[in-house]
Amino acid sequence: MSQQEFLHAGHPGIMEDAHRLLPYSSAIKRDDVRMRSSVIAGCGAALPERRVSNAKLAETLDTSDDWIYQRSGIRERRVADQEEKTSDLAIAAAQSALRRAGMVASDIDLVIVATATPDQTVPATAAFVHARLGMNHGAAFDVQAGCSGFIYALSIADSMIKIGQVKTALVIGAETLSRILDWSDRSSCVLFGDGAGAVILRTADSQELHEARGILSTHLHSDGRHHDKIFTDGGPSSTGTTGRVHLNGREVFLHAVTNLATVAEEALVANGLTCADIDWLIPHQANQRIIETLAMKIRLPLEKVIMTIDHHANTSAASIPLAMEEALTSGSIRDGDLVLMAAMGAGFTWGSALVRW
Ligand code: ACO
Repeated sequence: MSQQEFLHAGHPGIMEDAHRLLPYSSAIKRDDVRMRSSVIAGCGAALPERRVSNAKLAETLDTSDDWIYQRSGIRERRVADQEEKTSDLAIAAAQSALRRAGMVASDIDLVIVATATPDQTVPATAAFVHARLGMNHGAAFDVQAGCSGFIYALSIADSMIKIGQVKTALVIGAETLSRILDWSDRSSCVLFGDGAGAVILRTADSQELHEARGILSTHLHSDGRHHDKIFTDGGPSSTGTTGRVHLNGREVFLHAVTNLATVAEEALVANGLTCADIDWLIPHQANQRIIETLAMKIRLPLEKVIMTIDHHANTSAASIPLAMEEALTSGSIRDGDLVLMAAMGAGFTWGSALVRW
């Protein structure tokens, strides 16, 4: 007996009930999918108050401002206070994104939080965001794809809008990585920071659709064979602890450059565009040298690259929306610009998103 036959046999009305209960789902025709697109309606960010400079780290670690800056491009990072949780940063970023989109929480159908540092193992951090925004409708869940988490979450939200399952989505990248760093390991702790960025996605209107605005495409990849290149030495089902971050910096560096360049090209080819069409690249802010090598590989002038690594460090899933928010606030990204985002992280995971603003 098929699953469909089983459901009908047990509960004759169950499928009809399901269709009534899911206002945006089901019965999506192929033409409808082609006719929908999602646009970024607002972007917000939140950073902890506390700034920690390289010089401050050098007080307790065998390192220096020169070493960190030359190898990574990082000058300082923000570090959350003890009581400041990932959800606190996520909510502040979400509220700012909602304000900028001219929306309120009741307008949102879907909340996705990309994070590797959830408040608790259960429930998802998205549940805390959902509750604190006063929501009791729609869907809310977390995505864990390391530093590619925001691109993964954006891709899921975009797909759900394109198939008509939701009309709006709040997509957040939020981290308190400082909680899972080994502060005595100079080869990893100097690279990371805390923060959150959020975007509101909504279904494009007919004008935006006509002008081909919004998310043109997203591209996701993984290669789990590299799970041991960036990892924590613990977790709920292995040690019962969160563990601390470890990485093989040199290996990550080499894979990052290749994978980011490939997935950036993939987005351009999929849309019949070339590098010359890009107005802005927002790369994951892992290392200035990775970003510069990526730009060189895809032949993009550095003036078109949004770089915030010097004051944010690597905020994992938060890094792209944090950089996006700065570029929007400073007026760098304008209506009509073609913006390419690309990220790579633990797993390995990597991905890109191409957006016409
Ligand atoms: N201060 C001073 N010396 C240090 C520090 C430090 N903070 N950290 C390491 N060193 C020393 C090491 O002990 C080693 O010394 P040794 O040669 O005597 O053993 C030496 O510096 C290592 O130097 P390199 O490995 O040549 O450093 P490299 O140029 O590769 O830079 C870095 C290291 C910055 C980690 C780089 O490899 C990198 O950015 N990698 C990618 C970052 C990363 O893994 N991010 C994870 C997130 S996801 C992503 O990035 C896409």
